[in-house]
Amino acid sequence: MTDQLELAPQPTELPDWLVAQVEFFLQHTSPSSTPHVPEVVLRLGNEAVPLWHAIERKLPRRTKVPPYWGFAWPGGQAVARYVLDHPQLVAGKRVLDLASGSGIIAIAAAKAGAARVMAHDVDPLAVVAITMNADANGVAVEASGVDIVREDSDFDMSAIDVVLAGDIFYDHDLAIRATAFLQRCRIAGCVVLLGDPGRAALPKQLLAKRREYLVPVSADNQYTAAAASDDLTSVLATVWELEAGNPAAS
Ligand SMILES: C[S@@+](CC[C@H](N)C(=O)[O-])C[C@H]1O[C@@H](n2cnc3c(N)ncnc32)[C@H](O)[C@@H]1O
Repeated sequence: MTDQLELAPQPTELPDWLVAQVEFFLQHTSPSSTPHVPEVVLRLGNEAVPLWHAIERKLPRRTKVPPYWGFAWPGGQAVARYVLDHPQLVAGKRVLDLASGSGIIAIAAAKAGAARVMAHDVDPLAVVAITMNADANGVAVEASGVDIVREDSDFDMSAIDVVLAGDIFYDHDLAIRATAFLQRCRIAGCVVLLGDPGRAALPKQLLAKRREYLVPVSADNQYTAAAASDDLTSVLATVWELEAGNPAAS
């Protein structure tokens, strides 16, 4: 008996940098939900610029990218709403949320009955946000910071049935790489749905419109989330489906 106790595995200690990121996340966000997707609880930030400054002051060694994970973007809210209202799209399926941010879409997919949900975002703080937010909603989401849109990525597309992405076309270079990745997913047989508030880099010629929503957003920043108590305006966000087509023709 003594021997068995001595051989029992010890709990793994989290590295200091990860503990610092989790503490930072908890200190600079508060539980909230958006009027458009009230079913999903998210820890969100209040204002982007002070949040970004706090990251630079307190987590100086991390990559310097804006805290997109601190807000629920209109395209993501549109896809999350669509998935919750059409659970048959994901129920029992293996789902990937690409560029997950806060994890709003991944959490909606898990709540709608997906068998497995993976969420990828290259920002390490987003991986923390997705994990903590999934836990707060009582759902399982496998969060990863691996950049799977890289051309040399060995991501196994046969491991997923449905790919969802919200507000991924905000950057021209990312839009090109993400479009190529999503087309590869489509060719591999995945259903691919995208939410977008009308950005210029959206490859509309490859897409079929599924649904439009007027998404309430903060009056002072139309690209960030609105918590229920904010001063609200709204943005038109569309859910698109990537059509099967000849990628060489795009
Ligand atoms: C505008 S936010 C949208 C977040 C979320 N989908 C939503 O709708 O609320 C875009 C996200 O894309 C992530 N991102 C940028 N490049 C990426 C890449 N190559 N792979 C995965 N995520 C990426 C950013 O870190 C950021 O969290």
